[in-house]
Amino acid sequence: MKKIILDLDTGVDDSLAIAYALGSPELELIAITGTYGNVVLPLGMKNSLQITELLGHPEVKVFPGVPHSEATDGFETLEISKFIHGQNGIGDITLPEPSREAESTPAVDFIIEAAHEYGEDLVYVPTGPLTNLAAAIRKHPKLVDELTNVVLMGGALTTCGNVNGWSEANISQDPEAADFVFRSGMRTTMIGLDVTLQTLLTYKETKQWRDTGTEAGKFMADMTDYYIKAYETTAPDLGGCGLHDPLAVAVAIDPTLVTTFDINLKVDTDGATRGRTIGDTTRLNDPVKTTKVAIDVDVPRFLSEFMDRIGRAIVNA
Ligand code: BDR
Ligand code: CA
Repeated sequence: MKKIILDLDTGVDDSLAIAYALGSPELELIAITGTYGNVVLPLGMKNSLQITELLGHPEVKVFPGVPHSEATDGFETLEISKFIHGQNGIGDITLPEPSREAESTPAVDFIIEAAHEYGEDLVYVPTGPLTNLAAAIRKHPKLVDELTNVVLMGGALTTCGNVNGWSEANISQDPEAADFVFRSGMRTTMIGLDVTLQTLLTYKETKQWRDTGTEAGKFMADMTDYYIKAYETTAPDLGGCGLHDPLAVAVAIDPTLVTTFDINLKVDTDGATRGRTIGDTTRLNDPVKTTKVAIDVDVPRFLSEFMDRIGRAIVNA
């Protein structure tokens, strides 16, 4: 069993990533580290506490991350994020108050300790801005070699962004952090919009969860329907919602779900293209490539795994 840490700005697809991890027999979800993005940090952590409880896993610890990027003084949720994920991040569905609190240890310290303790058995999956990971590397530079398995959701290489023509939402929240991580020497796998906009969910699938007649099934269906409805406005041509964050968890379990391209990445931090993930020309001829960018995905196989695993998480809740 691999140990997994999810680093989440817990909105709708982050919640589906939690369910995917909990429904996967290959994984032990040892912790969630909180970040900001779809919601502010405290709300994201509360959502993580509530969803793990709803799915019958109150043992999962939640650690507080860095509340905003270094380049800013604070963070406020964007209106577009509220539109896509709801005011509360989970489709404006109300869950019971969590019976436990987040830990007091900072996420950055927990990540560094966990990398020491579990080594190659640990996989770290950030599905929000890379602020916590960058801070952890700055605090403990050897983490670059100690955290060997990082599968992140973010970026776009062969397709457009979703914030603007070139920038994906997670990277755009903290381009400096993402640039620092990509250029740190750490080995990463990037699951960006290139592949996540190919993996779509519709009302037909969410109905299957509602039809289980369980509290967890109804919640998952109602929350995800809110997200699908938002996609009808923001991306009407797609015909469903993007399963961004769960795809990163899926690839952490089974890298053969995607085809990857080896490249040394950077993120533009200045000028008109701020937030763009692109090849780093200073390392173009370096024989060592540190990032594997997913450029294709086996959609039917992923969707089948997705439905199996979310179904298992709901039934075992
Ligand atoms: C990413 O941005 C967030 O809104 C989603 O949760 C996902 O991690 C998609 O661009
Ligand atoms: Ca996310």
